[in-house]
Amino acid sequence: MSVNKNLNNEVKSRGQYLVSSADFFRRVIGTFFHFRFLWKFVISDGHIERVLSNKLTSREIYVHRLFERMFWFWPRALDARVWVGGDYKGRTADKYISFDVSSTVLSDAVQRFAGSKNSKILDLGCNVGRHLNNLHQRGMTNLHGVDAMSSALDMMADTFPETYAAVNLEHNLFQGFLSKEESNSFDIVYSHGATIQLVHPSFDVVQHLCRITREYVVLIHQETLQDQYPRFWHLEFEKNGFHLRHCLRPIGDHMGTENSNHFETNSLLVFQRHIP
Ligand SMILES: C[S@@+](CC[C@H](N)C(=O)[O-])C[C@H]1O[C@@H](n2cnc3c(N)ncnc32)[C@H](O)[C@@H]1O
Repeated sequence: MSVNKNLNNEVKSRGQYLVSSADFFRRVIGTFFHFRFLWKFVISDGHIERVLSNKLTSREIYVHRLFERMFWFWPRALDARVWVGGDYKGRTADKYISFDVSSTVLSDAVQRFAGSKNSKILDLGCNVGRHLNNLHQRGMTNLHGVDAMSSALDMMADTFPETYAAVNLEHNLFQGFLSKEESNSFDIVYSHGATIQLVHPSFDVVQHLCRITREYVVLIHQETLQDQYPRFWHLEFEKNGFHLRHCLRPIGDHMGTENSNHFETNSLLVFQRHIP
């Protein structure tokens, strides 16, 4: 209760950013000190395919890990392996079926900002598809999802069969999907929970996200505590031509996974493409 109160106070007093002094330095590194041109030289399509199908050789893993230890900026897609396996610290697909407050806030925002029922909408990190299912029930007809966890996509077929039949799903890493997707492919791209925060800054996830989105990026984002790779997210969106159009902070619920035993608050952030 007192933690909750402190965080609320922090939210009010710190304004736009929830940056603690402890992670400020890491945010500077994450935003400004990565050499993203290296990505295409180090990470091949074949490497992404092998991460996705869990077919990396131990030598390949060893070499990549060695370079990652030596150079903080070394491009890496190996992080996603834990999700490909389908049971990262007990975060199995069945933990992402139920709807919580932040899920409703997300769906309301997507529905509000979508121009029509036909708007082309992407769920980045859709897992078992609880948000796709809700949007399908709200009458959205042009829904897409991408996730690395094949067991979650399989589970969607049993859990939400009608939605599964109606949406377009891709089993891929964000890095693989975003790199090949054409510019302005989607009207709205949304993401719930720790998804883009899990992508190592050597891959410019915000630049790609903004490139493929015509109008709005809608995020339920944990701004408090433990960003795996802290960055100045707002600045990165601004740099890529999107401004914060709408924000709800904090939403007030926990992450919604049964194994969350620490306090994590979510924010709703809606970024809109600048209109020239
Ligand atoms: C914290 S879960 C959130 C799931 C979903 N957004 C929800 O709230 O129901 C993170 C999701 O991102 C996916 N993921 C993490 N890193 C990924 C990557 N590099 N490429 C594709 N999917 C990834 C995981 O498989 C998992 O489904």
